Amino acid sequence: MSATSNSPELFEPLNPPPRLLMGPGPINCDPRVLHAMAMPPLGHSDPTFWRYMDETMVLLRQLFRTENHWSFLVNGSARAGIEALMISIIAPGDRVLVPIFGRFGHLLTEIAERCGAETSTIEVEWGAVFDPAQIDAAIQKHQPKLVALVHGDTSTTTVQPLAEIGPICRRHGAFLFVDATATLGGMPFETDTWQIDAVAAGLQKCLSGPPGTALVSLNERVVEAIATRQHIEHGIAPADFEPPLGPKIQSNYLDIPMLMKWWSGTRLPHHTEATPMLYAARECARIALADGLETSFGRHQLSSNALTAGLEAMNLELFGDRAHKMPNVTGVLIPNGIDGEAVRRDMLDCFGIEIGTSFGPLQGKIWRIGTMGYNCRRQNVLICLAALETALLRRGYPARAGAAVEAALGVYDVWDARSTPAALAN
Ligand SMILES: Cc1ncc(COP(=O)(O)O)c(C=O)c1O
Repeated sequence: MSATSNSPELFEPLNPPPRLLMGPGPINCDPRVLHAMAMPPLGHSDPTFWRYMDETMVLLRQLFRTENHWSFLVNGSARAGIEALMISIIAPGDRVLVPIFGRFGHLLTEIAERCGAETSTIEVEWGAVFDPAQIDAAIQKHQPKLVALVHGDTSTTTVQPLAEIGPICRRHGAFLFVDATATLGGMPFETDTWQIDAVAAGLQKCLSGPPGTALVSLNERVVEAIATRQHIEHGIAPADFEPPLGPKIQSNYLDIPMLMKWWSGTRLPHHTEATPMLYAARECARIALADGLETSFGRHQLSSNALTAGLEAMNLELFGDRAHKMPNVTGVLIPNGIDGEAVRRDMLDCFGIEIGTSFGPLQGKIWRIGTMGYNCRRQNVLICLAALETALLRRGYPARAGAAVEAALGVYDVWDARSTPAALAN
């Protein structure tokens, strides 16, 4: 129907094709999360809504493994949480160090620069991670107020060990911010034990939810530092409110001190909370914790082992430092002479399966296969391997038919032989 006719242009009702999302995220949502999101929104001064907010804070503390009281949501995708913490901690002119080992280190650099930071970077080639001594040396050289670091960088499929980085930052008086978007719920993440001062994550990877809200947690060191920037909007500020001396945070929407007022007992209004996303975050956290975080970590590792066994049985080469491979995303070098995009298209068109490509120096060189959250289960690993094998055979790659699934099944057989009946459901 033409847009110029008198009838409104309505389109068809939404009917997305069924897809198995085996890329680096987003992934298929757990149906329990979708169900929670369909619950009726409540008013923002409803005591039941406030109770859900408080419950979400309790659940997030357990997910982040922290005692941090300030563990809450920032509406917007994961980068909204990253940006909120960075813009609230960094005042213009502050020094920031970003160790970059993939695309998302560049994102942290870009955000730090936009915050007006004097930003220094160190880099390793994509596929590698830093030795803590390299970060230590860079901190001594640049004397940053903040070190901003990615945990698992989905662009390279490698994960930076963090246990030694927090203590190094503390020793030099720097704050440590970590982007755990791609790892939270899929592998151990110890906010307090690793001395991480502030962390942000999202739901759309290992937590089985949709994109659209960020999870953040910050400790008292950060709270104290940003208290000097605690401004409150005119119109809602109490009559006796005295603005502090620190510079105003350059974003209203992402102002962590104002968000803390909304998430505190005072419930000082800020934005209109994205109710379905609050419900989603609460349900994602509930599910991860009810299953047990260690169970979830084990399931991600098992899927990674089975997937990599299958890929290697097809003589495909994995990308990146194997000792630091993320358990939830696997990088695969596209074989010489194979059109990587044609294979991805075949997988989507023939099987409804999405796998990822990559960016920057890895564009056109690797595929990225995710096994995370709700999708991290044996049937999906097997279906994905079978589909990839078929697509490769169609494009002339000399794989031995059936070898990939057989190798992956071998990994599961060993696991089954050692496991309890409950674990076998994975
Ligand atoms: C490591 C990492 N950080 C940050 C982001 C950004 O998340 P979002 O797109 O939800 O803002 C992603 C998304 O893929 C990611 O993998």
